[in-house]
Amino acid sequence: MSEANPTKMNRFRTWALVAAVAAVPAVGFAAGKGDAGKGKAVFAQCSVCHNADSGEKKIGPGLKGLFKREKLGTGKKVTEANVRATVDDGGPGMPAYKEMLSDAEKDDLIAYLKTL
Ligand code: HEC
Repeated sequence: MSEANPTKMNRFRTWALVAAVAAVPAVGFAAGKGDAGKGKAVFAQCSVCHNADSGEKKIGPGLKGLFKREKLGTGKKVTEANVRATVDDGGPGMPAYKEMLSDAEKDDLIAYLKTL
């Protein structure tokens, strides 16, 4: 007899569903840890080079709607990780902020950038 036990199968499906549902809010929570209001204050030092209220280039690209775009200027996808890496490492014409900003400041900054 190679028939699967239907009760066991159903139990497995129920567990898989519970695990999937439980994982969703955990991810959402981690993504929302920054404070956009504080991030705006942190952004003061970026605004010399970046517009927040338009996509127009200043010294660097305008950042309005950044997280609604497909790609960064480097061709990388616009994800929280890639934007954070840009802030950490800088680029041609942009200083690296890895040592200049704390992790909390970067969380706040990302939360703010998401509102643009
Ligand atoms: C001295 C000017 C300067 C400052 C200050 C600066 N940037 Fe930039 N930034 C640039 C330039 C120039 C680029 C484009 C780099 C490239 O071509 O890869 C850039 C690129 C970016 C990008 C990628 C945008 C895209 O569409 O590809 C992001 C995001 C960004 N900067 C965020 C920040 C944040 C946040 C700060 C403040 C912590 C900051 N920048 C400070 C000049 C600056």
